Amino acid sequence: MSKAVLVVGGAFGDEGKGKVISYLAIKDKIDVAVRGGVGPNAGHTVVSSGKTYKVRLVPSAFTNPQTRLLIGSGVLVNPQLLLEEIKLTDVRSRIGIDYQTGVIEEEHIQRDRMGHLKEKIGTTGTGTGPANADRVLRKGKVAKEIPTLQEFLTDVAGEVNNALDLGKRVLIEGTQGTFLSLYHGTYPYVTSKDTTASAVCADVGIGPLRVGEVIVVLKSYLTRVGEGPLENELPAEEVVKLGWSEFGTVTGRMRRAAPFNFKLAKRACLLNSATQIALTKLDVLFKDDANVKRFQDLSTEAKMFVEKVEAATGVRVTLIGTGPSVEDMIDRRGEV
Ligand code: GTP
Ligand code: IMP
Ligand code: MG
Repeated sequence: MSKAVLVVGGAFGDEGKGKVISYLAIKDKIDVAVRGGVGPNAGHTVVSSGKTYKVRLVPSAFTNPQTRLLIGSGVLVNPQLLLEEIKLTDVRSRIGIDYQTGVIEEEHIQRDRMGHLKEKIGTTGTGTGPANADRVLRKGKVAKEIPTLQEFLTDVAGEVNNALDLGKRVLIEGTQGTFLSLYHGTYPYVTSKDTTASAVCADVGIGPLRVGEVIVVLKSYLTRVGEGPLENELPAEEVVKLGWSEFGTVTGRMRRAAPFNFKLAKRACLLNSATQIALTKLDVLFKDDANVKRFQDLSTEAKMFVEKVEAATGVRVTLIGTGPSVEDMIDRRGEV
């Protein structure tokens, strides 16, 4: 029997989960990767073999051609978008979708692009909130009712639990971030369900005892798209000057930004029972540290920052991103 590794966002989404997951999929030779989270409101940028992919539904572990890819029943899919992504990433023969995965309809997208969802919350407009609302009212469609999805249907919870029973390597992918959680985030400026590690387990159909490691992904600074509080938010000119400008993968909106918040990082570790932290974009904070592959080769300032994150959270920083590519990663998991 094996235990799953679960990866979850520790801030407001866009922490760089896509890269961390695709690194783990290849490095750890993952057999089965399962995506939890809300739905196509997520956007993950994955740079692999010099090519850039933006995936919203296909698990970010697709970069390992040996990995079986699954989408849990708690997730929402937009069938047309999913079929396009399956084609783009060429994963038709190895992707499975649960019979009960929720479905976003055109009407949900329309409802998400008007009224308070657009004006007050600043949603991604991808229809996930209205689709989850209908799901709660038990009038939403599920994947097994959609003709174009028939060939992909499977019992995801059954597959994942079975893989763990057989001792296979299983990776669970969360999306969004801890402070976008409906329960634990900055309500009402949040997404339409819980996004913490416990919710991700439920999304894919495993109990918490099947998880061995919870990796919370934190970026070296904070970004946020849409409305809602962001402590110590910097003016847009300052963000550009620091080289922290980012644009939403799904919406193209400029992301708001603030310096790393140690208090929030600690809270994210608490809410997710973090056993490890993956810290991304350290090279954006410390330009001299681009593409560094070993912890001992980092600058003193960068090392001190990592140590400060560990001291504030009580959790080890095991993975450190030093560049956009999957290869730009310091991996300290083998060190004691
Ligand atoms: P998630 O939603 O958490 O997956 O993040 P994201 O993919 O939405 O973030 P974004 O759209 O900002 O994409 C991340 C970009 O930053 C991609 O181009 C990645 O290759 C790049 N990236 C990821 N990690 C690092 C890192 O450690 N350093 C640098 N310089 N770039 C990184
Ligand atoms: P919704 O999830 O589209 O309803 O949007 C609700 C809030 O969550 C908005 O502020 C969105 O910008 C934000 N949000 C949802 N998904 C993501 C994500 O994957 N990354 C960043 N922000 C997100
Ligand atoms: Mg994203």
